[in-house]
Amino acid sequence: MNFKIKNDLSKELQTIFQMDMLKSISQNEYQIINLLEKPKDTSFGQMALPVFGLSKALKLSPPEIAKQIMNYLLDRKNQGMFNDIEEISAISGFINFRYKSNYLTDELLTFISHEPIGFKPEKKNKKLVIDYSSPNVAKPMSVGHLRATVIGQALRNLAETQGYDVIGLNHLGDWGVQFGKLAWAFQEWQTEYDFKNEPFKTLFDIYVRFHDEAEKDNSLNEKGAETFIKLEKGDPEVVKLWKMFVEISMKEYQRLWDRLGVKHDLVRGESFYSDKLEDSIHRVERKGILEFSEGAYVVNVGEDMPPCLIKKSDGASLYATRDIASAIYRKEVLGCDLNLYVVGVDQTLHFKQVFKTLELMGFDWAKDCHHISFGMYRFKDMGKMSTRKGRAIFLEDVLNKSVELVKEIIAIKNPSLTNKDLVAEQVGIGAVIFNDLVNDRVRDVDFDWNKILDFEGDSGPYIQYTSVRCLSVLEKFDGARISKYDSQNLNSILFEKEEIDLVCMLLGYEQILNQAFDKFKPSIVANYLLDLAKSYNSFYNKHRILGIDDENLSARRVLLTEHTQKILSAGLGVLNIQVPVKM
Ligand code: ARG
Repeated sequence: MNFKIKNDLSKELQTIFQMDMLKSISQNEYQIINLLEKPKDTSFGQMALPVFGLSKALKLSPPEIAKQIMNYLLDRKNQGMFNDIEEISAISGFINFRYKSNYLTDELLTFISHEPIGFKPEKKNKKLVIDYSSPNVAKPMSVGHLRATVIGQALRNLAETQGYDVIGLNHLGDWGVQFGKLAWAFQEWQTEYDFKNEPFKTLFDIYVRFHDEAEKDNSLNEKGAETFIKLEKGDPEVVKLWKMFVEISMKEYQRLWDRLGVKHDLVRGESFYSDKLEDSIHRVERKGILEFSEGAYVVNVGEDMPPCLIKKSDGASLYATRDIASAIYRKEVLGCDLNLYVVGVDQTLHFKQVFKTLELMGFDWAKDCHHISFGMYRFKDMGKMSTRKGRAIFLEDVLNKSVELVKEIIAIKNPSLTNKDLVAEQVGIGAVIFNDLVNDRVRDVDFDWNKILDFEGDSGPYIQYTSVRCLSVLEKFDGARISKYDSQNLNSILFEKEEIDLVCMLLGYEQILNQAFDKFKPSIVANYLLDLAKSYNSFYNKHRILGIDDENLSARRVLLTEHTQKILSAGLGVLNIQVPVKM
């Protein structure tokens, strides 16, 4: 249900505090607005107020309390209150409200026409910086990065629905001693590889080889460290190599971002902060919190975690220092009000240390920095895919495999489909994205092709398919344009249960967007879309939409179909999943 309806009801319900029985109860103790919920069984109505919380204070059983409140409300209704409500009933510890269908459809029509849905005026002109995807140069994106990419992009889209001014940041991993190692190794070994034809693969192969060889011969690590110092000092030869590594890698990532529809506004890689580190370290020092311990400069961030490393004794800067400089930049230069980091759970300690250091530096805005953490992938049966050096599963392979599998499904289910390749790409990639986002992000995600591509199950293709179904109803509808039907016509025939359920479902979208953003959880949107698709399909399977005598009834059902499609496609858009026209 949407906010307005809930708010209106909650306001009217304040009248119960005038009952003798409730004289001793304060409105703060029993907050109606937070208690109103959807009834377990929607045949009871569309809203329910539980009274269990009153039982102890009133020394009465919940069914007894519900009955007394219901009787009081029925009296008020007779006196002209609760006009939009058809029926008030008490069942065990709940008071249920069934709305008049014309009220609900009128609300739906206003809600749908007022765009953008979910917009919150208080968020307008507020700036949100969100750091997502942020891969590491010369390394292929893994499926772990997939999470940082899709969750980040979805949160970015969600923030936009709320009215935020969003800056999507790529905190590219383009700095650190590993680039000294890579530069050194590249100079030594590049001629042994087909660098010209496979530039990115060569970089990664050399990187892997360096690590293997350095395990046997530690002098390699020293050479790498020396070369990194050269890079930090601006040695033209090394800088040139490094720039090339970044360029080759970005080109590689761009291909994947394009396929996933992911966009950043700014690339602010770790190297960007090189000339800002000194200042950050000074600011830490001036606060008197920089200490020298075990050969490094650190900040003690509390008993419950190890100190935050700021500078090594050889002068090399560190990941944390660059993040401190970056947080200051996001606040002082970009002017963000909220600063989000979409990064895996394995970096929890790092962000705790960084945020605590910022707090100790006296920045009250440290509280506006949030680590949006997520769990890992658990693979069931990846077959061939888990190999490639046995180290990681590569994102691109996963996407390709998904698209291939969808092509096979289309060949069986709908061989005459036009634009097969495009649809397979939309569905295959959408399926992988949805499977990620439907899970509460803090949990691990099961990766199981049977589930991901189950067109009838809780999957992305199921939602896309429902949208396609709606579009085909709309295409077949040859009646007058729906907008001609005013609400009187729409409401002229009694609503079936499935229709009212669907109307309420649609009305709930706005609140879903707000909740999902407030908790930074795209899974709330994904699960809502599943419920909406199911609600539409049970309506569709039970009632005829086209080819019925009553024109008004047909038009009303087409209108519900149109709105369902609109919300399905808006919701998929928030999740960054494409909406095929046919499939
Ligand atoms: N490049 C890092 C990685 O792949 C993620 C960077 C996250 N953002 C940050 N500001 N530390 O592990």
